[in-house]
Amino acid sequence: MSVSVVLKNACSTCGEGPHWDDVTKCLSFVDIMAGDCHRWDSQTGDHEKIHIGNPTSLIIPREKGGYIVSQGLQLAQLDWQSKQLKPILSVDLEKPKNRFNDGKCDTLGRLWAGTMGYETYPGDIEKEVAHLYMFDKEQNLHTIKDKVNISNGMAWTADNRTFFYTHSMPRKVFAYDFDLVSGNISKERVVVDFTEKSIDEFGIPDGMTIDLNDKIWLACYFSSRIFQIDPETGKILQTIKFETSNITSCCFGGPNYDELYATSSTIGLTAESLAKQPLAGSIFKVNNINAKGVPGIAYQG
Ligand code: BGC
Ligand code: CA
Repeated sequence: MSVSVVLKNACSTCGEGPHWDDVTKCLSFVDIMAGDCHRWDSQTGDHEKIHIGNPTSLIIPREKGGYIVSQGLQLAQLDWQSKQLKPILSVDLEKPKNRFNDGKCDTLGRLWAGTMGYETYPGDIEKEVAHLYMFDKEQNLHTIKDKVNISNGMAWTADNRTFFYTHSMPRKVFAYDFDLVSGNISKERVVVDFTEKSIDEFGIPDGMTIDLNDKIWLACYFSSRIFQIDPETGKILQTIKFETSNITSCCFGGPNYDELYATSSTIGLTAESLAKQPLAGSIFKVNNINAKGVPGIAYQG
């Protein structure tokens, strides 16, 4: 495996939400606390950003054009050319300090997005006040789960019968039976449990993606690592080590979907550790991973 830097220090806070768009060959991602949406064109190398303000945790292309983004507890439409934002809806109104976190579309183009409690330090949050939502093509909002701490990475198996979901606190990834037609999830079980493992090596499970063989690629905050894990056995199959500790998420991209793109964060690093990690906040590309994935799915509503 070889790790290279695609965009050095692209994010000043928490880089997140990488999404490879098959149509434009662009990688979009966010810089959460900076309130910036980024887009990097893999063909021209152009890198643009739009400041939308408020913590923004997801940017996903819409089939109809533009993007769907989050701003705090709001989902909005973003037109990249005009930079215009149009609010769609807000959630968790009873908990105004919550914010949206990771989001991803399922194969039918419905947006799954979760929230998290107020965070004072990575992983240190108000507990059980957040939710996992599903926003369907008709723009109806469904509450999938309540009492969530930090809603994080998501992935579905190729046959769409299983849904994987990171609960960053308590450092676990769960699997559920998934009903594609209704969008219901059931039969929760644990597939990754890092609760007893060292933070330095295993960190806090965060964003993830899945390869064509249904193995998950789990980015772990504070650990400098992405693990390829077999969710059926819990076994770690491969480990990618980065030169910075706060790896937040990853997605497949490149012409053959055999490159892994990863985001990283500076949040939680002291001035001393930042000085030792000059690549914190960068976007990375990993080659020769012996796996392939699929492009990101656009929102169909
Ligand atoms: C959140 C961060 C959090 C991290 C680790 C990320 O998805 O956006 O705020 O610190 O996960 O749990
Ligand atoms: Ca995340």
